[in-house]
Amino acid sequence: MDPFALDVLADPIPADTAIREAAPLVWLPAHGVWAAGRHADVAGVFRDWSTWSSAAGTGLADIRRGEGWRPPSVLLDTDPPAHTGARRVMNRVLAPRALAGLAGGLAVTAEEVVDDALAVSGAAGEVDAAVDLAERFPMTVLPDAVGMAPEGREHLLPYAALNFESMGPHNTLRAEAERRAGGAREYVAWQVRREALAPDGIGAAIHAYADSGDITGDDAALLVRSFLSAGIDTTILALASVVHELARRPDQWAALHADPGLARAAFEEGLRLHTPSPVIGRTATREVAVGDAVVAPDQKVLLMLGAANRDPRRWDAPDDYDLHRRAAGHTAFGGGVHNCVGQVIARMEAEALLGALARRVARVEPAGESTPRLSNWLRGFATVPVRLTPA
Ligand code: HEM
Repeated sequence: MDPFALDVLADPIPADTAIREAAPLVWLPAHGVWAAGRHADVAGVFRDWSTWSSAAGTGLADIRRGEGWRPPSVLLDTDPPAHTGARRVMNRVLAPRALAGLAGGLAVTAEEVVDDALAVSGAAGEVDAAVDLAERFPMTVLPDAVGMAPEGREHLLPYAALNFESMGPHNTLRAEAERRAGGAREYVAWQVRREALAPDGIGAAIHAYADSGDITGDDAALLVRSFLSAGIDTTILALASVVHELARRPDQWAALHADPGLARAAFEEGLRLHTPSPVIGRTATREVAVGDAVVAPDQKVLLMLGAANRDPRRWDAPDDYDLHRRAAGHTAFGGGVHNCVGQVIARMEAEALLGALARRVARVEPAGESTPRLSNWLRGFATVPVRLTPA
């Protein structure tokens, strides 16, 4: 069983199911790591950061042995207390109150994006929701909110791909991401500096904490980097998956169309069913037993978030998309001290785009098969062809 084999990545649910149903912890000899697929075990690991460390990196490689592809993140790749100060800064700049001013602009841009998609759909009969809706919206609003320069944004998706593929094994997907990265690393090193960021964006707000001594200037740049790596592809994939489901579930679309206030619920259920970031690693700090397995110090455990989010022990009819279910408790944003610090902004983006879709579109129908995105560390659809009928 190799969860990173290309045929498994193209159709990952059977492997997720096999891992989850075999045992609380399964040994994956292909990579010399454990995997946990049950919701209760995944949640337990997230809660216990002192046993399950992030400091060796959350990908397959042990970054303490110099196997990392980039300077470690001061957030993702640390444990408390090192994690605490940087996280406090990010919590402040990404808190609902700090972001409230963005809501009006998000709503306006979302309506423009949906109207443009409707115009294209009218002429050609269909749009690719993965590109024309799900990609276009975050690619516009997130870089603006951070205060990134207009030039160089074409490097954002290649950089994000490099980031996520590099968390996995040295396979063809990773080699391809490295080949396509071009000048993305240099762009990111340039864009995260204080001088390259607009004075009124989230990036500048992070750098301001270097003045008060909460973090160093180098830390501030690494924190801004996390927007460029973690904040875009994940949101794009989540939005595309929701549109994929809505196009195939007329009853679910009708519910959202009738009540655009269900946009948030539609997003959470999409995150649960098609977990965009389906795997995250932790490393044991001591010998620890889980079920019948004994994990040795320094061994890695892959938390199979996608598997946990379809665990029948936790969810009724786990393979069904149902925006009326209580999807709270899904692990798509992780958990514990490292839970996704960008989840407020991701939810604001989703509510804006899916709300605009619900108001301005009467029908969403499939216009062909969606194709999976092949990735070591991301999950969702590369294309979602749909026909949109204006409201
Ligand atoms: C639907 C969209 C998103 C998904 C599915 C997602 C998923 C995740 C997950 C699973 C983690 C936990 C990592 C771990 O435990 O090691 C995480 C952490 C993180 N996310 Fe997100 N994320 C999303 C959006 C965003 C956005 C929009 C941003 C930036 C604005 C962001 C920035 C981060 C950062 C910086 C961390 C590390 C937090 C820490 O280590 O304390 N994410 N995310």
